[in-house]
Amino acid sequence: MSELTQLYDQIRVCTKCDLSKGRTHAVPGEGPENAEIMFIGEAPGFHEDREGRPFIGAAGKLLDELLGKIGMKREQVYIANVIKCRPPQNRDPLPVELDACKPYIEKQIELIQPKVVITISRFAMARWFPDAKISAIHGKPKKFGDLVVLPMYHPAAALHQPSLKSVLEQDFRRIPEILKEMANLKEEAPIKKEEPPQQLSLFG
Ligand code: URA
Repeated sequence: MSELTQLYDQIRVCTKCDLSKGRTHAVPGEGPENAEIMFIGEAPGFHEDREGRPFIGAAGKLLDELLGKIGMKREQVYIANVIKCRPPQNRDPLPVELDACKPYIEKQIELIQPKVVITISRFAMARWFPDAKISAIHGKPKKFGDLVVLPMYHPAAALHQPSLKSVLEQDFRRIPEILKEMANLKEEAPIKKEEPPQQLSLFG
């Protein structure tokens, strides 16, 4: 059993916060253990809670569609959330819930070692860009040590606000180019866990 599978087992029985009391299933995340791209969303919704899988509702369908437009399939990428159990009525996660769940996503990043993390939620973005606004930084990759982080709008935002769909499509179209360019990038200062770095320019 891989360390990642062991982590999934731990997440499925986690009781570190009260969200565990209302869940049908915890949603650890899914995808290849050696994925180059890792998407990090917010938290499971109704359908994800039912099935124990991330992004399988309407937002997930849009994610699949956007991946398809750049010739990729969801099976090629890793998909996880910052929060592993559905908050009641899909409310924002509380600080105490974010703190309790944080070690899980940190461990997933450590084990998968993606080349690019694509944040598709405010709470994932805040891990690397604590004070930034998504409207200002979406689609702009930044390098932290060996990792490139690319913030994007949440697909659900594009479902509620159709004008954001083309923004999201344009940002997705940059993914292949970013993967290719990465080989030529200089390494920046490694990230310190306790002190999120300021934005560092990726393309100079
Ligand atoms: N929204 C998220 O952020 N994550 C999911 O898994 C589903 C919807």
